[in-house]
Amino acid sequence: MTHHPLVIDAYSGPGGVGLALSDLPVRHVGVDIEEYGDEYPGQFVRADASHVAFMERFPSPELLWLSPRCQAYSRLSWANMGRYDWDQTPKERYPTFADLNVREVIEAVNPEHYIIENVATCDDLREPARLNGLAFGLPINNQRHFETSFTVPDACESGTCEISLGSEYVRHELAAAKGVPANWSESEIRSAIPREFVEYLLHYCPSTPNVPLPETLRQRALHEFVEVTGGKQA
Ligand SMILES: C[S@@+](CC[C@H](N)C(=O)[O-])C[C@H]1O[C@@H](n2cnc3c(N)ncnc32)[C@H](O)[C@@H]1O
Repeated sequence: MTHHPLVIDAYSGPGGVGLALSDLPVRHVGVDIEEYGDEYPGQFVRADASHVAFMERFPSPELLWLSPRCQAYSRLSWANMGRYDWDQTPKERYPTFADLNVREVIEAVNPEHYIIENVATCDDLREPARLNGLAFGLPINNQRHFETSFTVPDACESGTCEISLGSEYVRHELAAAKGVPANWSESEIRSAIPREFVEYLLHYCPSTPNVPLPETLRQRALHEFVEVTGGKQA
């Protein structure tokens, strides 16, 4: 019988990552503090993913994916600090990786490999791989950063695209571009990770073999990849 690796999808939301995982040769469980049992595509547990003792109940999965909330790091929060005269920085106002015990949870769960996802302005990610929609032929300019316990080359293209986040765009177009349901809320659609990003990262993960590169990824020679990623030469 084929062994399908287990992926714990922590901070899963309704399942941007989960939708991609459900089409890959892996088993997966979503964990979120909100109730997404009806929406999440697959097994789902409503729980606090920053609770170390609880997360320890998932012993040594092949992959632990973490998408902690990004308000402490986002450009929008920093803009709001100026706009609304906050007397705290976003990192003081919102939970950081330290507040969410991100490193402690990884240590306690002890996965074979891990991925931590966040916005490009998150300075608590260590030597992340950088991905954006243009590299995968998606009409969106969302750049996301991923700290990984394995080497992943950057996939970041420059250029213009049809849907520019932060400007006016049609919500259902963004949902379609990301491959998620249009009836998700605005913030759920905005924070959903496109399936191409998930496939790309899992392709490089030694614990999730048999995940092909997304077809839409432009095949590039090794020397075209940008500098250093994941702590090692791309
Ligand atoms: C950036 S979104 C996740 C997006 C998701 N990865 C996707 O691709 O659709 C962050 C999620 O973290 C959840 N969240 C916030 N604090 C949490 C906590 N302490 N434990 C579990 N989930 C939490 C939020 O409800 C939200 O769904």
